[in-house]
Amino acid sequence: MTPNYDIRLCTTFEEYTSCLRMQQLVWQFSDIDVTPLRSFVITRRSGGMTLGAFDSSEGGAGNLLGFAHALAAFDSGNRPYYYSHMLAVDPALQNAGIGRRLKLAQRDYALAHGIGLIGWTFDPLQSRNAYLNIVKLGGVVRKYYVNYYGNASTSALHRGLDTDRLFVEWWVGAERVNRALHGEARNDAPVAAVEVPREIEQIKARDPAEAVRWQQSVRSGFDRHLSAGLYCAGFEPGRGDEPSRYLFYNDAYEEGILRYE
Ligand SMILES: CC(C)(COP(=O)(O)OP(=O)(O)OC[C@H]1O[C@@H](n2cnc3c(N)ncnc32)[C@H](O)[C@@H]1OP(=O)(O)O)[C@@H](O)C(=O)NCCC(=O)NCCS
Repeated sequence: MTPNYDIRLCTTFEEYTSCLRMQQLVWQFSDIDVTPLRSFVITRRSGGMTLGAFDSSEGGAGNLLGFAHALAAFDSGNRPYYYSHMLAVDPALQNAGIGRRLKLAQRDYALAHGIGLIGWTFDPLQSRNAYLNIVKLGGVVRKYYVNYYGNASTSALHRGLDTDRLFVEWWVGAERVNRALHGEARNDAPVAAVEVPREIEQIKARDPAEAVRWQQSVRSGFDRHLSAGLYCAGFEPGRGDEPSRYLFYNDAYEEGILRYE
């Protein structure tokens, strides 16, 4: 059962150390891939923030249940935004809304600091992340990066595949985001779709070559649709064994334009 918890800014060495442990638990990184304590301190001192969900139940001892970490960033047109680098929830407590609550706290922080955009990357093969980012939060995707971090990652979630990433733009004050936060998914027909497995981890374990084929197919689908000027603003989780689907649109884009490197 999910304990009661509070979300607050992490500011102490102990809290940052809990975030290091959480990274190891969630991604099973070896030490070289863990974002170190110094980096948390620097992030805070340079305008970024780490928000932690802390157990507030009786006897919960204030343990960290999850965190969201974001750097102060500029796009290539010098527009300030937050670059959210990690969102992690204790594996025993995933799928219970903690990730969404952490993102909402990040949004509140951005709005309070006059920053209209939070951006982050995620693995396009992770259906759960796509659903959370696009449907539940109202993020949009206009950019696909091939092998973003190279092939040196030690995370169990990355093993054997290129580290392709989608970049989500979350325009926190936008009408699209308000609608998503009220559970109003876009229901007009998309102009294109790209399929992705609902449970990539099972495929990786069963047949790594099939996982590679999925990555290539998602990569080429995004390449085709994004280069045609479409953007992704919808996602349909697959039912049962059915694949999930990224949904693409070509109508006027309501929000601002992030300038990519
Ligand atoms: C991604 C993560 C941070 C999300 O946090 P969380 O607390 O588990 O997420 P939430 O419960 O708020 O939302 C997840 C939603 O996805 C749904 N979901 C679960 N599996 C899914 C799947 N295979 N496909 C689509 N949706 C799925 C959940 O049902 C939930 O939606 P609901 O609330 O409508 O039921 C967390 O799962 C995690 O730490 N994952 C590993 C690390 C990671 O991938 N981090 C993000 C990239 S940096």
